[in-house]
Amino acid sequence: MIVGIVGSGAMGSGIAQVAAMAGEEVRLFDKSKEATSKAIQNIQGSINRLVEKDKLSPSEGVAALGRIFICDQLDTLKDCDLIIEAVIENLSVKKEIFIELESLVSASCILATNTSSLSIASIASSLQQPARCIGIHFFNPPFMMKLVEIIPAIQTETKIISKMNNLIESWGKIVVVARDTPGFIVNKVARPYYSESIRIMEEGIANIYEIDQVMTSHGFKMGPFALMDFIGHDINYRVTESVWKSFYFDSKYRPSFTQLRLLEAGFLGRKSGRGFYNYSDKSESVESEINKELSDRVFMRIISMLINEAADTVGQQICSEDDVELSVKFGVNYPKGLFEWGKELGFKKIVSILDDLFDTYHEERYRVCRYLRNLAKL
Ligand SMILES: NC(=O)c1ccc[n+]([C@@H]2O[C@H](COP(=O)([O-])OP(=O)(O)OC[C@H]3O[C@@H](n4cnc5c(N)ncnc54)[C@H](O)[C@@H]3O)[C@@H](O)[C@H]2O)c1
Repeated sequence: MIVGIVGSGAMGSGIAQVAAMAGEEVRLFDKSKEATSKAIQNIQGSINRLVEKDKLSPSEGVAALGRIFICDQLDTLKDCDLIIEAVIENLSVKKEIFIELESLVSASCILATNTSSLSIASIASSLQQPARCIGIHFFNPPFMMKLVEIIPAIQTETKIISKMNNLIESWGKIVVVARDTPGFIVNKVARPYYSESIRIMEEGIANIYEIDQVMTSHGFKMGPFALMDFIGHDINYRVTESVWKSFYFDSKYRPSFTQLRLLEAGFLGRKSGRGFYNYSDKSESVESEINKELSDRVFMRIISMLINEAADTVGQQICSEDDVELSVKFGVNYPKGLFEWGKELGFKKIVSILDDLFDTYHEERYRVCRYLRNLAKL
């Protein structure tokens, strides 16, 4: 199969590496020559590290790199069987690329987008043959992250879904299928990990060190504040804002001023040396004794919100329970699935915590979704 990739930034270059290592012939195009040469350097560096660690033989490394062809012109992608677009997150730019691609490729070529937040239906609508369009959403970095969300648009031809499912699985990935809704699965289900933690901190219930410590003590690899700093507040805030706007300003997704101020100040997190934490001050990390009552209160509030969001996602038929579990385990590295956690803690208890929060705050964000209430009745 010949796989074309448009856009060779963080995602496009990573997807090119995944496809080439799986044996596909890859044609990589970017409008910037600088971007394609940087992409090749990055892929080469990543392959070299795999060879050094004995995860790949030197000849396999050379062969994989040899399967990636850098293209100066978009029309070099005309023979591709599948093209994955990974350019900047801008609807009109993406639509223009799709229109141009369709004028070049054969009628059987599948046109996919790696968008994180735009609707696949709107991108597909730019095509003469919208049935050939589908979302294939990799996570950053694509080579490391196991999960891929496949998002058919309402226009997508059914057989393309299973075809892409099989192909991406053959690239060694774990595939979940999501309905074309804002944030798909991961970027919707994971929102409370950040937003509820910020709320708890803003209300002075616990500080960032305490909240991070509580969550890592329950098996999360990174606490929410350390994780937001790692992702970068530019990206994390924009995803939150986009999900909030796309769900018609549902207040449960409302972004926080605290994070916006960090973004405005240029305190983007690790990449700028300062976010919630100050990375130039080595003495800053504070491990402290947290009393059990506070620890339980913080954990139960955050996990209850996550479980409610997971249940809401299944209730809205965005995906199955199993796909939520795979998504959080392999898309955001949670130590357990959220339904598994809910079962362990008891769905009744989760509902009663959220109902108490709703009674206290009288805020929509704490409303319990119908699917979770039903689980609590079982
Ligand atoms: N970075 C992430 O964490 C992440 C995760 C999943 C999905 N995504 C999505 O993947 C896409 C790419 O994100 P990224 O982080 O790789 O961005 P990036 O900024 O690293 O790379 C984008 C690349 O697109 C190129 N480009 C822009 N306009 C172009 C055009 N008209 N023709 C050809 N190339 C063009 C740019 O030169 C750049 O190299 C976006 O839709 C983003 O939402 C990003």
